[in-house]
Amino acid sequence: MANGQGPAFVMPDGDREGELRRRVLVVDDEAGVRESLRLVLRDKYDVSVAESGDEALRRIGGEGFDAVLLDLVMPGIDGLTVLERIKGQRPELPVVIVTATRTVKTAVTAIKLGAFDYIEKPFDLDELRIVLANATRTSALQREVNELRAEVGRRYQLGNIVGRSEAMQEVFRTVSQVAPLKTTVLITGESGTGKELIAKALHYQSPRASRTLTAINCAAIPEHLLESELFGHERGAFTSADARKLGQFELAHQSTIFLDEIAEMQPAMQAKLLRVIETGQFMRVGGTKPIDVDVRIVAATNQDLTQAIAAGTFRADLYYRLNVVTLHLPPLRERRQDLTLLIKHFTVAKAAELGIKERAFTPEAIDHLVRYRWPGNVRELENLIERLLVLADFGPVRPEELPEVIRQSQTAMPTGNMRGEVLLGIRTLSDAVDEFEREIIVEALHQAEFNQTRAAERLGTTRRILKYRMDKLGIREK
Ligand SMILES: Nc1ncnc2c1ncn2[C@@H]1O[C@H](COP(=O)(O)OP(=O)(O)OP(=O)(O)O)[C@@H](O)[C@H]1O
Ligand SMILES: [Mg+2]
Repeated sequence: MANGQGPAFVMPDGDREGELRRRVLVVDDEAGVRESLRLVLRDKYDVSVAESGDEALRRIGGEGFDAVLLDLVMPGIDGLTVLERIKGQRPELPVVIVTATRTVKTAVTAIKLGAFDYIEKPFDLDELRIVLANATRTSALQREVNELRAEVGRRYQLGNIVGRSEAMQEVFRTVSQVAPLKTTVLITGESGTGKELIAKALHYQSPRASRTLTAINCAAIPEHLLESELFGHERGAFTSADARKLGQFELAHQSTIFLDEIAEMQPAMQAKLLRVIETGQFMRVGGTKPIDVDVRIVAATNQDLTQAIAAGTFRADLYYRLNVVTLHLPPLRERRQDLTLLIKHFTVAKAAELGIKERAFTPEAIDHLVRYRWPGNVRELENLIERLLVLADFGPVRPEELPEVIRQSQTAMPTGNMRGEVLLGIRTLSDAVDEFEREIIVEALHQAEFNQTRAAERLGTTRRILKYRMDKLGIREK
């Protein structure tokens, strides 16, 4: 990193990744064992010692240890209990059990409780070093994974979901309110309005963010496979089930499951989903005992579920369970205030992503984009902008470069570009209303050959009021 100007922040040499000394906590009631472990390990590790389980538990919370070497047999709290508590406090911290009385039973119990490995006293030095190297590497990897997940999480912060319309602001407020909770959320909106993006924001702003978000597209999985995909199956549950398989609900324990296109789920499955929501339990296909899970459910659909209920294809009871909080994403044509912001957002983001230059838009091109109906919503806009950046020439985007459908689009707009200008924030609404009124009054005056009484009649008002409006709008009597 050294360069001529000198970096603002210099890392001490020994601190470079790879040379970082990992921190190990040795927990043993015998001073002799603590000392000898410290001596043999200190060339590679920063060794700290604790002489009881209590002391160990006090310290692991605050200090960033990479691994723990834990004696099983100690006075006071015994090793297994200490292990359990460590796992409760810092589940990712690898604990290596040290045991003199190695019985299969305690070793197995320790591994079940989450111990990373175990070694026997007296130590084989090489074995000790290998086990410890593995343990600390695992914790370093885990930390990296957590950091990467947090990084992915940042990408979905509301800051990257663009929208200044009142409807989107309301969506953002609700997301911030309910994200930290376990509440089930139903996201509705046409295709391409950003349902999946919102589902991700809900997950990555929740305490579950360090776990992976599981997304299931209910329409993409054949009906007969969906149950085993969601809930897993036991060996022999059906002909091709030659081994037990865990379902997505089990894998998503303590995380969030995103059920996309929920309207496509068949009523039989809907009943099973309802059961998980109500009881927190499900059964694997072919299984006999219920399994408990802690999973947050976020569902999405581009259909009107109340219509599906009326048509008998969606269960009303499930609907009420899913619909605890609803986030509706309006189609883009109903929040045209968001268009310029989205255009800017995608231009910057795509240019950076593709390593190419940003482009501006001529006001005429913007005007076309603002008028268009956007049946494919935000996704359609995003794709268009990417195409314009990649294919097009230099300079601002001109209307000729836009697809035919967009250039042809003529939604009912009262006067020229006025509506577009208001929506783009170029003009205020009251300005545009004045302009509209001025145009109509002038037109009426022309038609009445500047006879104010007749013009007023035509406009359905009185001469006095017309005169007042003309003064206000700066229209001079011819
Ligand atoms: N408000 C927004 N700000 C920034 N990007 C957005 C916004 N809304 C949608 N997008 C982007 O538009 C694309 C489509 O969004 P998304 O996939 O979330 O839509 P969807 O509602 O799930 O669509 P479908 O119903 O077709 O699955 C994505 O690339 C997403 O990142
Ligand atoms: Mg989607």
